[in-house]
Amino acid sequence: MLESTVRAELERAAGKPGRVDEPLAPYTTLGCGGAAALLLEVDSSERLAALLAAAGRRDVPWFIIGRGSNLLVADSGWPGLVVKLAGDFKSFSINGERIESGAAVNLSKLAATAAQAGLSGLETLAQIPGTLGGAVAMNAGAFGAAIADVVIAVEVAVPGATRVLSGTQLRFSYRDCELPADAVVSRVTLELAPSTAETVAAAMKGFQSRRRDSQPAGSRTCGSVFKNPPGASAGRLLDEAGCKGMRVGDAEISTVHANFIVNTGAATAADVLELMRQCRRRVFEKSGNLLEPEVRLLGDMPLEPLT
Ligand code: EPU
Repeated sequence: MLESTVRAELERAAGKPGRVDEPLAPYTTLGCGGAAALLLEVDSSERLAALLAAAGRRDVPWFIIGRGSNLLVADSGWPGLVVKLAGDFKSFSINGERIESGAAVNLSKLAATAAQAGLSGLETLAQIPGTLGGAVAMNAGAFGAAIADVVIAVEVAVPGATRVLSGTQLRFSYRDCELPADAVVSRVTLELAPSTAETVAAAMKGFQSRRRDSQPAGSRTCGSVFKNPPGASAGRLLDEAGCKGMRVGDAEISTVHANFIVNTGAATAADVLELMRQCRRRVFEKSGNLLEPEVRLLGDMPLEPLT
């Protein structure tokens, strides 16, 4: 619960009223977890920078939510501010081979637009159910490619200001990049390669069907649960440790791909976390590999070290 004066200051910075005790489960693809103390939408980089400054002044922890497709929220919720980017953050434009886009645009929409324009570079990422900002922040990737391959510049909002960083300055690595402290990706410039609409569309279709064959399509999941350890596949390790089909409550390890957890009904975050713990232990005991979560854990979600 935030004090009303704190809430008023945050709302003033955002330029609109927020939602108090807002349940977060509907904002995630997995569909479980508790509420945020306050959820605010923000429409421009300037407002976002002002909001981050206000949150800093008032010591309010904040979290930016995209499509919630890589997110597990604790059942006890999040005691701070959740920010949803809207307004300007949903606009984009194409200029030659460059796309300049707000962070809240869905990757699938950008990929489809690039395809129509005959621009290549987003085909492998078209099926990732996330926003561009989220994809940059975690260097989302698939089929050997990643968003880092096409990012040339990123505008970030920091408390009280915005800054532009080059793709190189972000030092992308596997599912990660080095954003400055308290920085939020607000806009992104991508550089794609010229091709034809037909070639790009055909490639996209190919990746789409490969994904459909190897991942649980149409189920409530949060994408890959664990990162691939160097030189190994988390999915294969989990499969070899006999995890497919394991259940805790309504959380189940997919029988299609062992690195996906499916919410088959009313799974709680505690169910999902317990399933993660059990699988992690199994893999550790069988292969000695310590799997680290790929999914973002928000709130009180301890995944104890294995001893
Ligand atoms: N495998 C198994 N059993 C399983 C799952 C996989 O034996 O249950 C084997 C596969 O047969 C394959 C290998 O493990 O030989 C690798 O599997 P896959 O090709 O499915 O790729 P992945 O490494 O498990 C990565 C990304 C996915 C991305 C796919 C497709 C990570 C953690 N995952 O999966 O990204 O869609 O490649 O390129 O890097 C995500 O990040 O959320 C995500 C879904």
